[in-house]
Amino acid sequence: MDKKIAVINGDGIGPEVTAQSIKVLNAVAQEFNHSFSYTNVLMGADAIDKTGNPLPDETLDICKQSDAILFGAIGHPKYDNDPTAKVRPEQGLLKLRKELQLFANIRPINTYPSLQHLSPLKSKQLEGVDFIIFRELTGGIYFGKRTLNEEQTYATDECAYSAEEIERVAKQAFQYAQTRRKKLTLIDKANVLETSRLWRKVVQTLSAQFPDVAVDYMFVDNAAMQIIINPAQFDVVLTENMFGDIISDEASVLSGSLGLLPSASVGNGAALFEPIHGSYPQAAGKDIANPLGSILSSAMMLDHFGMYTEAKIVREAVNWTLTHSFVSKDIDPINNYGTNAIGDLIADYVKKHAKTGVPESGESHASTII
Ligand code: IPM
Ligand code: MN
Repeated sequence: MDKKIAVINGDGIGPEVTAQSIKVLNAVAQEFNHSFSYTNVLMGADAIDKTGNPLPDETLDICKQSDAILFGAIGHPKYDNDPTAKVRPEQGLLKLRKELQLFANIRPINTYPSLQHLSPLKSKQLEGVDFIIFRELTGGIYFGKRTLNEEQTYATDECAYSAEEIERVAKQAFQYAQTRRKKLTLIDKANVLETSRLWRKVVQTLSAQFPDVAVDYMFVDNAAMQIIINPAQFDVVLTENMFGDIISDEASVLSGSLGLLPSASVGNGAALFEPIHGSYPQAAGKDIANPLGSILSSAMMLDHFGMYTEAKIVREAVNWTLTHSFVSKDIDPINNYGTNAIGDLIADYVKKHAKTGVPESGESHASTII
């Protein structure tokens, strides 16, 4: 297959982790006779520095014409610490999500037996943890009307949702639940918020079309606690934009390192794949960042292309590095490997094992996404 991939390196450690993904994708292309072409485009602080615009028109055009987008990370401390900045790197990502209608952000949470000691939870609580978060990505408070009065003493952010916006992401979550343990949990704040009550109503109505999926409803404050005390209860989690942002960072620590977690944002057009970690500016250029979040995001991209065997071998290669402790500093502060070395090891593993097939491994509770 021929695929056009737009590459947004972005800020901080974005370029170096994305480079490892490209190595791995090239190994896949070589072994499985695919042709992947890459076009580099700008977004974020990098784009502001070079063009003054966090999402140049050219970036948007090229992304729209691509089969998929591989994205590194966004953000720079010079904007984080300046609440008066008019142009911010994150505006680029939000605009891209909106323009491409990437309404579903999918974040799988897996645990790895060899990394359980890194999790703040006891091993007993981590047994059987394998869930996936469907976060609505183009609505809610992230995109509502904002105001700030002239005296700069009063501000508002509106949270708005239409039934259609809820239904399209909920449908994806239900369909995905049908391929898994058939349980869907809607996380909301329906005891307080009108938008949350609309979410419940839409999900309740939709559930009639998915009688094989058991649905439960949980308030977000309780969910924040349940993710810590009993994370194994979750299968597919569905939630609105900001709740999803918060609980996915919370859930990420179950795996042992934020650096491990991938995500996919899908909608009607090209889909976008990115690690869930941030730009980690302190580590930029030091060859210490964990490339696995990005590489596992590429595996989600391969699934999205229907290249399931290819995706499986990439995940297998990642598991192999973890079980053999070929890991970055966030996982092992004493004996660790550099970002580049880990990328090389994974690309080599793919080259060596592509022909012989993927051996079965019980290491991770990895799921195949989208
Ligand atoms: C994420 C990030 C973004 C978000 C930021 C960078 C705008 O935290 O993808 O989770 O809040 O959605
Ligand atoms: Mn976030």
